[in-house]
Amino acid sequence: MAKLYVLLSLSLSILAISEQKTPIVITTWNFVNSTITAWNVLKQGGYSLDAIEKGTSICEEQQCDGTVGYGGSPDEDGETTLDALIMDGRTMNVGAVAALRRVKSAASVARRVLEHTKHSILVGELATKFAVQMGFHEETLTTSISKRMWLKWYYKDHCQPNFWMNVSPDPSKFCGPYRTTDDFTHKNYDWLPLTKIDRFNHDTIGMVAIDNKGDIAAGTSTNGAKFKIPGRVGDSPIPGSGAYADNTVGGATATGDGDVMLRFLPSFLAVEEMRRGASPTEAARTAINRIATHYPNFMGAVIAMNMDGAYGAACHGLGDVPFPFVVQDISMDQYKIETVNCSWPLN
Ligand SMILES: *[C@@H]1O[C@H](CO)[C@@H](O)[C@H](O)[C@H]1NC(C)=O
Ligand SMILES: *[C@@H]1O[C@H](CO)[C@@H](O)[C@H](O)[C@H]1NC(C)=O
Repeated sequence: MAKLYVLLSLSLSILAISEQKTPIVITTWNFVNSTITAWNVLKQGGYSLDAIEKGTSICEEQQCDGTVGYGGSPDEDGETTLDALIMDGRTMNVGAVAALRRVKSAASVARRVLEHTKHSILVGELATKFAVQMGFHEETLTTSISKRMWLKWYYKDHCQPNFWMNVSPDPSKFCGPYRTTDDFTHKNYDWLPLTKIDRFNHDTIGMVAIDNKGDIAAGTSTNGAKFKIPGRVGDSPIPGSGAYADNTVGGATATGDGDVMLRFLPSFLAVEEMRRGASPTEAARTAINRIATHYPNFMGAVIAMNMDGAYGAACHGLGDVPFPFVVQDISMDQYKIETVNCSWPLN
């Protein structure tokens, strides 16, 4: 009996070693540089929160897909504003900013909210004021690219598409009941199609990381929906929606049609499903399914990871295009881009 026990515990510990998957980081889309940056923190024994902040920040600096950071997704007035969230699964503490104006480093401002306030979310102009108090530099988030994008939408596309409903004049025929407050001019503007940045309208970097102490953190950063009504806050900075982390279970993050997705707290739901024993893939599917039941045309994806470093994803509404996400863990020499097929059966 004792022999058997020794044998059993020996093989169990061998099993545990061969299955070592943490530290690990997972990132939405193909945001490879963010994964590498976060991984460099984790592999040196760094803290998961630092990995998340650094990983999302590099995406803001490099303007990932034009949908994260400055110079993308102008709102109806032509201004780029930023949403970001960071969550600490060890303390269940959250820091977030929404509709942040004129400060590029939204993820780092969110980290300051987490660490230097008793609050969780700061918004708009007053989030900017907080950022400046914390020493962040105030500057325009408009670039020649975002300006051109807005000019084309306003003058050539007659403010289509937009996010208005049930207003007069009919938003499908006119620019909405709003008026631009900015001093953009259409003079000397060439109507070049901006296909490269038009690739995704709803796009977010979302990351979940587990460090070598088993601490789990998650975070997001985005410049939101293109031509949003000023003041709009998406899913990304909402805890449980854009991301969620709990050291005792795992973490999850979501990307897609934020206005719809935040109504279902998909990241929270995925974590709760894992708490109930679901695999990360099952948990992500449950979260996506819940939304698709009500909004069959929504576009989005959820990636989930449990505390052991097992991960999975599910997506919806991307057509035949698989949803990519990036993974790097201790067992890999290099990051790996995984994809998930959105056409799994809805039940
Ligand atoms: C990734 O980072 C490298 C080095 O900083 C840079 O040259 C490259 O353009 C980045 N990739 C993207 C997609 O931004
Ligand atoms: C995705 O799943 C659908 C339905 O199961 C299948 O027809 C399709 O070939 C799959 N696509 C890929 C790229 O695996």
